[in-house]
Amino acid sequence: MTPPPATDPTEINRARWDEVVDIHIASEFYDVAEVKAGGSSLDPLILSELGDIRGQKLLHLQCHFGLDTLSLARLGARVTGLDFSSNAISAARALATETGLDATFVEGRVEQATDLAGCDFDIVFTSWGVLMWLPDINLWARTIAASLKPRGRFYLAECHPILWIFEDRHASYPENLNVVRSYFLDGPQNWDNLYDYAEPDVALTSYKTNEWQHGIGEVVTALVDAGLRLEFLHEHDRLVWPGIPGMVRQDGDYFTAPEGAPRLPFSYSISARKL
Ligand SMILES: C[S@@+](CC[C@H](N)C(=O)[O-])C[C@H]1O[C@@H](n2cnc3c(N)ncnc32)[C@H](O)[C@@H]1O
Repeated sequence: MTPPPATDPTEINRARWDEVVDIHIASEFYDVAEVKAGGSSLDPLILSELGDIRGQKLLHLQCHFGLDTLSLARLGARVTGLDFSSNAISAARALATETGLDATFVEGRVEQATDLAGCDFDIVFTSWGVLMWLPDINLWARTIAASLKPRGRFYLAECHPILWIFEDRHASYPENLNVVRSYFLDGPQNWDNLYDYAEPDVALTSYKTNEWQHGIGEVVTALVDAGLRLEFLHEHDRLVWPGIPGMVRQDGDYFTAPEGAPRLPFSYSISARKL
């Protein structure tokens, strides 16, 4: 018998993420060939801010199909990747075997991290397109704190929440940036996203998603309340995908404002340490 359709917002999201794994692996957006050939999927911002991670025990939250996790392993970290998509975790394990890189992958929701992966990590890492999938940012922060050893470090690189306020389909940067959504929103935004960001030509079956907006203040306060001390909060005028139509490619890895146009904070990064 076919199971009834999921009603839990996170389960609805999980179906979506399960569906896009193979599409992502085959896409140009994710450079699987580069990682298979011995290279890295990590961008220069992350590489410079993360620094030397050799020998560090690292937990990668929302690791998708493991491309970044394996790149972190290649930098010498002892890595565990966690994701709630069983397709993503299967693909990550297969990629680890194929590349011969040592990595552990566990399937579960973020808040299950300590049960599934332990609580003695030197670093918890998460990046690019992660927080909008999480309903409870305080639970997320407490999970990070519980996963870290004392003095352990948390690192995040993420899309800036200011981007969510703009009308996205017909905007062009910067003349036509219409503000259509509040920066402060509770509850999930329910989207019908028929097409995926990595492969806009493929119509998806699991087109419904639920996303939550988390402002910068909310994220930082959640981390501080969970017992982490902020080391830096950097805002950047670049992002690894064109968050607003009209953003232009910069230095290969990033998109930014066109020449001469006003610059917005398109992304931000955080480093924090467990007290
Ligand atoms: C945009 S991807 C992150 C991609 C990652 N930066 C990378 O390049 O590999 C978001 C990931 O979050 C995962 N995810 C979403 N909600 C989750 C949850 N509640 N618990 C665990 N994983 C989740 C999805 O399965 C997906 O792999």
